[in-house]
Amino acid sequence: MIQGRGRGRRGDGADELMGLDFGAMFRRQAAASSYRPRSAAEWDARAVARSRREKGSDYVREFLARVDFSGVRTAIDMGCGSGNLAVPLARRLDKVWAYDFAPGMLRLLKAAAAEAGVEDRIAARRLAWEDDWSRVPRADLVICSRAMDAEDMQRALSKMCAKAKVRCCVTLHAGGFFLDGELRTVLRRPAVPRPGWLYAVNMLAQMGYLPRVDYLETHGGLSYADVDEFVGSVRWRVGELTAAEARRVRAYAGRLPRGEDGGILHRHDFRWAFVSWDV
Ligand SMILES: C[S@@+](CC[C@H](N)C(=O)[O-])C[C@H]1O[C@@H](n2cnc3c(N)ncnc32)[C@H](O)[C@@H]1O
Repeated sequence: MIQGRGRGRRGDGADELMGLDFGAMFRRQAAASSYRPRSAAEWDARAVARSRREKGSDYVREFLARVDFSGVRTAIDMGCGSGNLAVPLARRLDKVWAYDFAPGMLRLLKAAAAEAGVEDRIAARRLAWEDDWSRVPRADLVICSRAMDAEDMQRALSKMCAKAKVRCCVTLHAGGFFLDGELRTVLRRPAVPRPGWLYAVNMLAQMGYLPRVDYLETHGGLSYADVDEFVGSVRWRVGELTAAEARRVRAYAGRLPRGEDGGILHRHDFRWAFVSWDV
């Protein structure tokens, strides 16, 4: 017979991999990463442009196609942003609690919910990964889509598990980082990715869960109104640029192809790991 899940155990000592401290490894890589964490105010400043860019993306359809909805009538969407997932979830479920630490995102979410006629089924609240979650209700499904920007991934995953009655789903970067390719050559900076999906899978296994992993890809990239907007988006990801770096990025942006609307097209493919587990 297969042994029980032994939740909370750090392995039995015989399995070296299960004995590793993935939490400490995560924090080390996060500190060394070329991608800096962003504050609620920074997300707010990007809210409108980001939600405009998301329109028409096939990511949401691909995400929802991978969710197992059996036994699910209620959901929590953590890091909901402008509601790309929360709104379609509210269309098919009885109740969705949508959380984000950026008030501007929550405003966009409420407008999207009203437009879709599902405002009665969505409760939008301000909440950060780092906050006290004791007043967060439990729901059948807890999702986090592209928003596991927590300083402590282990604690964030534990919070998701504690609030889920049936299962959890999270998408994490698994390839196609913004600094890959020509832009990295232009910047001449080392590109240390933020710690991602493999940490989550290992942490969950250590916590006694059985994570399933699938992958989804988004292709095509993003369009920027002008060179300034493109340079701003590089800063948003990697932090301040030196004068020489900014000059090189501007020159690079000037060489990028233009779309029909005159915007700059930056080709950019992402791979996401879709990790789900029953609780
Ligand atoms: C890339 S967006 C994802 C939005 C949406 N889930 C989606 O997939 O379209 C990331 C979201 O996470 C939120 N976020 C980032 N760090 C957070 C934190 N520490 N606590 C709560 N929300 C956070 C941001 O405000 C932003 O709305």
